[in-house]
Amino acid sequence: MLLDEISLKQSKNIPSRPRRNRISPSIRGLVQETRLHPSDFVVPFFVVEGINIISPIDSMPGIFRYSIDVLLKKVKELYDKGIRAIDLFTIVPDEKKDARGSEAIRQYNLLQCAIAELKEYLPDLCVMADIALDPYTSHGHDGVINEHGSIMNDETLDILAEMSLLAAQSGADIVAPSDMMDGRVAYIREVLDSAGYVNTGICAYTAKYASAFYGPFRDALYSAPRFGDKKTYQMNPANRREALREALLDEKEGADMLLVKPGLPYLDILCSIKQSVNIPVGAYHVSGEYSMVMAAAERGWIDAEKVFEESLLSIKRAGADFIFTYAAPMILQRL
Ligand code: PBG
Repeated sequence: MLLDEISLKQSKNIPSRPRRNRISPSIRGLVQETRLHPSDFVVPFFVVEGINIISPIDSMPGIFRYSIDVLLKKVKELYDKGIRAIDLFTIVPDEKKDARGSEAIRQYNLLQCAIAELKEYLPDLCVMADIALDPYTSHGHDGVINEHGSIMNDETLDILAEMSLLAAQSGADIVAPSDMMDGRVAYIREVLDSAGYVNTGICAYTAKYASAFYGPFRDALYSAPRFGDKKTYQMNPANRREALREALLDEKEGADMLLVKPGLPYLDILCSIKQSVNIPVGAYHVSGEYSMVMAAAERGWIDAEKVFEESLLSIKRAGADFIFTYAAPMILQRL
């Protein structure tokens, strides 16, 4: 008998061998639990006034500010590789900034033009518009301020709602309020619905932390606060239960999807929120997370593409239904 010839002593008595499922690429592929796909990503773009402009951002190697004509070409390139969602941020020249961020609600401003042109060029691309005042205010805060420099919640809501309505009118599929004012999701929903934009979605930055990881983004937009910090509206990095409170509120107020931000350092938050709500939850892998990897890669210390793929996979594994990331274009060919 064949069995008689086998000396059982050849193997140690190891009851379970997880390594068997890792023996070959084919088997590893079969048992892989999480996969990245181009349709997971929302790629942020920085739009600047002018024509034929490609302006590098020193603190974000590989990322540029584009004028609308170039933006269309760059977005089309990604669209052809499977990217189906982008998010727009605009750079506002200093002379157009004021204390109330009036430029945000001027008809036919840069944001609205960019949305309209993209939707005309690529109708089934999902175009998201960032809704917040910080690129537009002379003081760099996300809301209107009073004479003491305090951010005025309720006064800010009208501007955010009008900004959202103008984005919807321009063709935005989804508005993404990133300001962290209380009650803005319900108010924006009410305004959009009243104006007939019942199909325009709201992706609420629900747990947006007062984070040092946003530095390079503020360089890109020249939007760093001119005084103080954002701690009276963005969340304390020490808090998790507060994020659940925000998430439940935003779900109740009518958000279609939620966003946690930053990404990698806040995976516990993402995971908790995912378990607590019944709407999709995404993560924003932010500028600082991107730039740290690029800086280390420039020194030859790490492989940026591999680190990005692993980072984004980890964010998805933690529960993200979608990921905002500057790194998507770099890893598409690896997927
Ligand atoms: C502003 C806004 C910020 C980011 C997205 N929207 C910065 C801030 O709150 O100061 C950060 C994105 C990034 O760092 O990539 N409403």
